[in-house]
Amino acid sequence: MDLNSTQVETIVRQVLSEMNGTDASTAKSKASAAFRSIPATAKVATLVEPHKIVVKEYPMPEIGDDDILVKVEGCGVCGTDVHEWKGDPFGICPVTLGHEGTGEIVKLGKNVKTDTAGRPIKVGDKLVTSVISCGECDICRLHPGNTNLCQNQGVHGLITDSEAHHLCGWFATYLHITGKGATYFVVNDLNLKERMLLEVAAVCVHALKQGNSTGLINFGSAVLLQGCGPVGLMMLAVLRAAGVNHIIAIDGSEKRLEMAKKLGAKTIINFTSPEADTIEKRVGIVKRVTNGVGADFAYQCTGVPAAAADIYKFIRRGGGLCEMGFFVNNGEYSINPHFAMCNKEIHIVGSWDYSAEDYPTTIAFLKQAREMNIPIEELVTHSFPLDQLNEAMEVNIAQKGIKVCYVAE
Ligand SMILES: NC(=O)c1ccc[n+]([C@@H]2O[C@H](COP(=O)([O-])OP(=O)(O)OC[C@H]3O[C@@H](n4cnc5c(N)ncnc54)[C@H](O)[C@@H]3O)[C@@H](O)[C@H]2O)c1
Ligand SMILES: [Zn+2]
Ligand SMILES: [Zn+2]
Repeated sequence: MDLNSTQVETIVRQVLSEMNGTDASTAKSKASAAFRSIPATAKVATLVEPHKIVVKEYPMPEIGDDDILVKVEGCGVCGTDVHEWKGDPFGICPVTLGHEGTGEIVKLGKNVKTDTAGRPIKVGDKLVTSVISCGECDICRLHPGNTNLCQNQGVHGLITDSEAHHLCGWFATYLHITGKGATYFVVNDLNLKERMLLEVAAVCVHALKQGNSTGLINFGSAVLLQGCGPVGLMMLAVLRAAGVNHIIAIDGSEKRLEMAKKLGAKTIINFTSPEADTIEKRVGIVKRVTNGVGADFAYQCTGVPAAAADIYKFIRRGGGLCEMGFFVNNGEYSINPHFAMCNKEIHIVGSWDYSAEDYPTTIAFLKQAREMNIPIEELVTHSFPLDQLNEAMEVNIAQKGIKVCYVAE
């Protein structure tokens, strides 16, 4: 049997520990506790074909000098995971999904001294990963402030499984961080739920930056949120933390709207209720709560083309819109550009993912939300073990909860 150095170290530790009746090292640090427990194999939940995630087991890989081995604690299920699970639209099957993950470092390559923010890093630290940019495309070379738009953007959790790198997604017991451009941050002062929500929060923190570039979001601004799924609700929390007090939230689910209210929405509109079941009625309500003019700014978070076409009607003349609801191709819509955009002089921005540089800001947002008692942890409504991730996908599709997560046992 061929053993790599990680496996050999694990066995030596175990033998010494049994001989001494105690751990080989006298240090009682959390770090050594984590190290001691590295097993010889790791499990991954791999999407092998649409609708079929299978748990597989592999020997623990060799950890190179620039690599990190993380014991996974949990990972959010993203709409993108569900989209891939349904039909492999990205053509990356077989793939171990899960990019909203977090865990504890159990092994560090000798060259890894700091995280991406330059903070010291050690075994025992809690970690999250961010995007992997290529460093070589036009964007990476010429527009380093926009690496979220890297033409070869990668992320742990959307990489095709390979012999060389099986532990490359967070739906696993261990994640092996490797490869050029990997970015990661130490987040010891956030709890598990906050860490599992960090990635979706980064999407929204980036969208706040995009919205802010229009100069239309300020104290006193009325901001409309269309769609109260995990993205819309997190956007709401980000806006609240940023000082926006007048938020109007629209959705068709009473449960999600209740959550919007808890997070601080002033006005909620249920488009299935008799008072709001037409676009005219909804526009009427929005005008009523905005002195007859409409919202200063709107975030589109539904992924539904018909909703995206409607959103212009809620926005005042001279107002703004951030389109962040189409991370995947859900089709087209048509509008009358005279009424919707030109005559209103709407300031439109798109928002795509986030860069690693959005992570420190996102970590600050999560701490601030906690201080402000914005109950974002309540967004986590369901958790599933590794062998039940097909069920987790079904629950997500049925919109039975808000944020569905994999939590390691
Ligand atoms: N920009 C990015 O970087 C980025 C990143 C991740 C996800 N997304 C996108 O964000 C979107 C939302 O993600 P999610 O996980 O919250 O999805 P979700 O499907 O859970 O939530 C969408 C919500 O929109 C509501 N909705 C549908 N029609 C509506 C209408 N006419 N008016 C108001 N609300 C309506 C639904 O009831 C639902 O609650 C997705 O389509 C995804 O592609 C974007
Ligand atoms: Zn995601
Ligand atoms: Zn690039």
